[in-house]
Amino acid sequence: MRVKRIKLREIFATNSKKTLEIELETEKVRVRSSVPLGTSKGKFEALYLSTSEAASKFVFIKNKFLSQNFNSQEEVDDFLHSLDRTENFSEIGANLALAISSAFLKAFAAENHQEVFEFLSKEKAKMPRPICNIVGFKGSGDVEEYLLLPVHQTSFRENMEKIMQAYLKVAELLKIRDPSFSFTKDLESAWFTRLSLIEILKILTKVSNEFLLKIGLDFAASHMWDGKQYYSYSMNNYIFSTQDQLNFVISLARKFPIFYIEDPFNQEDFVSFSVANKQLSPKLICGDDLLATNVKRLKDAIDLKAISSAIVKPNQIGTISDTIKFVKLAKENKIFTIMSHRSAETDDNLICHLAVGLGCDYIKVGTSGERVSKINELLRIEEILNK
Ligand code: PGA
Ligand code: ZN
Repeated sequence: MRVKRIKLREIFATNSKKTLEIELETEKVRVRSSVPLGTSKGKFEALYLSTSEAASKFVFIKNKFLSQNFNSQEEVDDFLHSLDRTENFSEIGANLALAISSAFLKAFAAENHQEVFEFLSKEKAKMPRPICNIVGFKGSGDVEEYLLLPVHQTSFRENMEKIMQAYLKVAELLKIRDPSFSFTKDLESAWFTRLSLIEILKILTKVSNEFLLKIGLDFAASHMWDGKQYYSYSMNNYIFSTQDQLNFVISLARKFPIFYIEDPFNQEDFVSFSVANKQLSPKLICGDDLLATNVKRLKDAIDLKAISSAIVKPNQIGTISDTIKFVKLAKENKIFTIMSHRSAETDDNLICHLAVGLGCDYIKVGTSGERVSKINELLRIEEILNK
């Protein structure tokens, strides 16, 4: 494939901050690809540059894409690594790298007259189960996400219908129990409330029983960790040692219908993850900041039996090929894979195609506002798969 034109554009993400979009034109097709932004980013993620820094790097590398033939995604991504030559894309920026890498993926698929998920799938395509953020406190320094997920997958559409009804039902119950509740949402369009963690879990228990769903929690615990010995919950006023945190996580998981627990400990504490994973199996103990979509960290987590599921965020690592390697390693080791949005997204629905095409078990998305774009894309993909 030969590139005729490659252009970088600054666009806006859903948090109103600037992000990057690449427009790529080959002799046959024209595609666009943009990258999301995280709020509670992990320490081990590849590095994002500011959009203006990325734009100045782009000036130097732009022409290199015009003068050669690319025959595969690996060639493109190897080339990006050769231009950068650092472990974490600190030279050209993981945001610029992923925008380019994913634009090439779309172009390869389009030149093949295929949807991206079909181009990727090699017959492994399957619809992921949704995990949806229902009550949320993004960036708060407390449990960040209260999620709902289905136990089984009949169809993606049926599961989404249940979750959407549950999301609306949660708002009704919040309105009754929290006098200050005014349908305010956080960055991911999850409901914001002043109720305590336990009160929220009681509401979600009622709703999950009604709609045959299970509860998930993203503690994002690195953002509660003081770096030495305590976890402090900014809104619930708990201050926990690591042992307290472990006891708390285990007791919540046993008391409420919780099936999914993301980042319950700080991103360096593989040991506590392992203890929780052993005690709470078969519930899903998931690494997000812990793994940062990084194969090396996933290997460590597998060796230590620290997790049973892994968040996959392409922008934590910077290329499509690295994302594919991560998913492959997880699958080979029977780790459930969860493709995930970021707290600030764009109108780009590529993660839906990656989730289906790579055969991920779950996809983590939001339920309202601009977040429905991903869900609607998945409904369309399901229709194609069912033909
Ligand atoms: P983000 O966090 O704000 O970094 O996208 C989302 C998450 O922790 O799952
Ligand atoms: Zn997370």
